[in-house]
Amino acid sequence: MAEIIVALDVPTAADADRLLGRIPEAGWVKVGSILMTREGPAFVRRLVAAGLDVFLDLKWHDIPNTVAGAVAAARDIGVAMATVHALGGRAMMAAAAEAAGDMTLVGVTVLTSHGAEGFARAVGRDGVTIEDEVARLAGEAFEAGLDGIVCSPQEIERVRSVAPRGAAIVVPGIRRREDAAGDQVRLADPGTARARGATHLVVGRPILSAADPAAVLREMSLR
Ligand code: C5P
Repeated sequence: MAEIIVALDVPTAADADRLLGRIPEAGWVKVGSILMTREGPAFVRRLVAAGLDVFLDLKWHDIPNTVAGAVAAARDIGVAMATVHALGGRAMMAAAAEAAGDMTLVGVTVLTSHGAEGFARAVGRDGVTIEDEVARLAGEAFEAGLDGIVCSPQEIERVRSVAPRGAAIVVPGIRRREDAAGDQVRLADPGTARARGATHLVVGRPILSAADPAAVLREMSLR
């Protein structure tokens, strides 16, 4: 059964605490650029001490030495899973994988907010499909020793075709029929993502903006 990771994309630790108070059944939470920039590692340590599994999603993309240092720092504060950007290249990912120890390290492939046109523009190449690019980057990431991949629900099966057994397939872009897409382009509902083979579903706004966040979390866990 895929884990649901609640993305704590809220402005402050106090907001996150309020949300967590309303969803006591949450086991995994994502700390991203917003909360890490405002609240820092003390906040992550506090979540870990409260028994939560923390997914630190800072999508590192820098020279190998710098990324390896950041990965080691994440491991030291008790993070369970972290992201690097697969576009950082083999040497960067290999250095990061070595620094990760037993922390799960996953590679971000192509952001779920990209559609075909925006992606072609960003990489300056026509005729490259997002699915091919995700599969290519996933292959690079696994060769470099990463434990898993972040991809949209639409590329799960392609990623599985190049993934070793037991790889983590972490999937944002999760929406039920009634949820607003927001800035996400490549989407699916939780049941579909799960059936395709996602191991972790990252869900932000459908839970954060719900009148009853616990009910949405429960419903998504069952679907
Ligand atoms: O609010 P929503 O459900 O769209 O949140 C999705 C979460 O997944 C956000 O925290 C976003 O940063 C993250 N994410 C993503 N696409 C990626 C990697 C991470 O949307 N490729």
